[in-house]
Amino acid sequence: MTDDSPLKHSGIILWLTGLSGAGKTTIAQYLEHKLREGDRPVERLDGDAIRQHLSQELGFSRSDRDTNVRRVGYVANLLNRNGVIVIVSLISPYRTVRDELRSTLHNFVEVYVNAPLEVCEARDVKGLYAKARSGQIKSFTGIDDPYEAPLNPDITCNTAAETVEESVAKIMTWLEAAGYLQGSERFASANSDRAFQHISP
Ligand SMILES: Nc1ncnc2c1ncn2[C@@H]1O[C@H](COP(=O)(O)OP(=O)(O)OP(=O)(O)O)[C@@H](O)[C@H]1O
Ligand SMILES: [Mg+2]
Repeated sequence: MTDDSPLKHSGIILWLTGLSGAGKTTIAQYLEHKLREGDRPVERLDGDAIRQHLSQELGFSRSDRDTNVRRVGYVANLLNRNGVIVIVSLISPYRTVRDELRSTLHNFVEVYVNAPLEVCEARDVKGLYAKARSGQIKSFTGIDDPYEAPLNPDITCNTAAETVEESVAKIMTWLEAAGYLQGSERFASANSDRAFQHISP
């Protein structure tokens, strides 16, 4: 993806990939809540909403899935270059297209939300694994469609062994250590300074 924008890239793209039921949406929602405490703009791009609003015509072939991932990458980039922290929660099963985004988008952080297939299937949050096993739905990731795990993710959350809070804390700690949250602290403290000045006599 080319970028000829004069805008400075000051956001982050947190790209959560993993099997259905691994915990991407759950972590993304909790993470959004935590990051909003830092007073930076945060936006979530969730697979279900994207399929409903942006990619209605796409199916689940490899080509359609890759198109979907590239679309989300494009939108994430627009938000990122305006300083937004973007949290993407999307199965995004193919390594090649994830790596393509990783190498072209600024501040792209790959988070592998990892849980064994058996655990995801036992959770079966949406009842989709049962439907996939019974043949009611086809091309379901992990059952009759591939999932290519990241080989070198920036962060891995092992959700079968961690609580949601632990997984989110791991991401927050990584972001702090990498210096991504310094701006938010400055922004938050600048805001509270302004508020203080405003109410001071
Ligand atoms: N550490 C954890 N992190 C996230 N979710 C967890 C964790 N431990 C248990 N869970 C549970 O796992 C389930 C994950 O469901 P969730 O909808 O977040 O999955 P998903 O990856 O978004 O799936 P899909 O791709 O189908 O949207 C939830 O019921 C959640 O409570
Ligand atoms: Mg989800």
